[in-house]
Amino acid sequence: MNGEELLLMIPGPVPVLPRIRKAMSRPMIYHRGNEFGELYREIVDWLKLIFQTNSDVFVLSGSGTCAMEAAVGNLLRADTPVVCIVNGKFGERLAEIGRRYSANVRTVEFEWGSAIELEAVKAAMDETQPGVVTMVHNETSTGILNPAEAIAKLAREYDALFVLDCITSIGGYDVPIDRWGVDIAITGSQKCLGAPPGMSAISVSSRAWAMMDNNSNRRPYYMDLIAYRDSFDKLQTPYTPALPLFFALHEALEVIMEEGMARRVERHQRLADTVRDAINAMGLSLFPRLNEISAYSNTVTAVSVPDWLDDASLRAGMMARGVVVAGGQGRLKGRIFRIATMGNITEREVSRTIQALESTLKEAER
Ligand SMILES: Cc1ncc(COP(=O)(O)O)c(C=O)c1O
Repeated sequence: MNGEELLLMIPGPVPVLPRIRKAMSRPMIYHRGNEFGELYREIVDWLKLIFQTNSDVFVLSGSGTCAMEAAVGNLLRADTPVVCIVNGKFGERLAEIGRRYSANVRTVEFEWGSAIELEAVKAAMDETQPGVVTMVHNETSTGILNPAEAIAKLAREYDALFVLDCITSIGGYDVPIDRWGVDIAITGSQKCLGAPPGMSAISVSSRAWAMMDNNSNRRPYYMDLIAYRDSFDKLQTPYTPALPLFFALHEALEVIMEEGMARRVERHQRLADTVRDAINAMGLSLFPRLNEISAYSNTVTAVSVPDWLDDASLRAGMMARGVVVAGGQGRLKGRIFRIATMGNITEREVSRTIQALESTLKEAER
């Protein structure tokens, strides 16, 4: 089976449409010239529409984690009190990055797969009086959608800045950054935007700039957002941009503009509903344990591996049928598998995945 035939239903990298792949083979251009400036400006304008923000937005030549570190590393001083909300691997990663920059990181932890409870977050905020709060919107490791609007509101009440990892929500969900009051939002190219891996985008509010401009602490060099802001005045990036990926991102955003965000969000919802219905119909269980302020993710569905089944052979069975699904990460290895419905996936790929799962399960039962 070669790479062309395998259907990637993992939560990034997602399959990339031929027209987006083709964009990467364009000849290189001068990255300090007008042509690049036009390309960058258009990319940023489209991203602002998708983020629903009037804040500054930049594109970083680095995967999602690069934007996570840019957000946290530029804001924190060595003693900034930070509350990091953790209910999965990526929430934990934000806390790990936070600890590299501040000695005053307080985590509010929930079991992976469990919902965030506001009372526990409030208690941690009372205790810590944070300058910054971090959370993952769509926790990809567990398939749960966390309550971004409620936490943004809480952060405002405590006069803290809110950093939201939207790496697997922006482009697949309606994420109104400004209306919710998110100070820094980040996303990755290889997820709901449907572009190849290797790029990320970040929005920075005026409140976040005020904190960064006063930060005399050591900040990241390569991901120095002030350098990004200065370069943007000339429609440039501070260092050589990953040009083929910029070409691809531009094309991927054009695809999004053609579809329209409202239809895209509706498609993500519909495809996730189809996957969840099929999972329930097959007698399997969805992994997340929800409360009234959380939801199953529309971009990645996490399924518990039943006792009678082995995760590795399930995924091997899927692979033999040409479909790649993801296993669990970290402590969830072997306990769950994950089916992504993000980017430019259609009903066709979803039904191929469901058929492959049905036939794999049938074979395992025999
Ligand atoms: C929610 C979330 N945050 C951060 C990351 C890290 O992104 P990357 O692997 O692109 O560095 C991922 C990747 O899966 C993610 O899903």
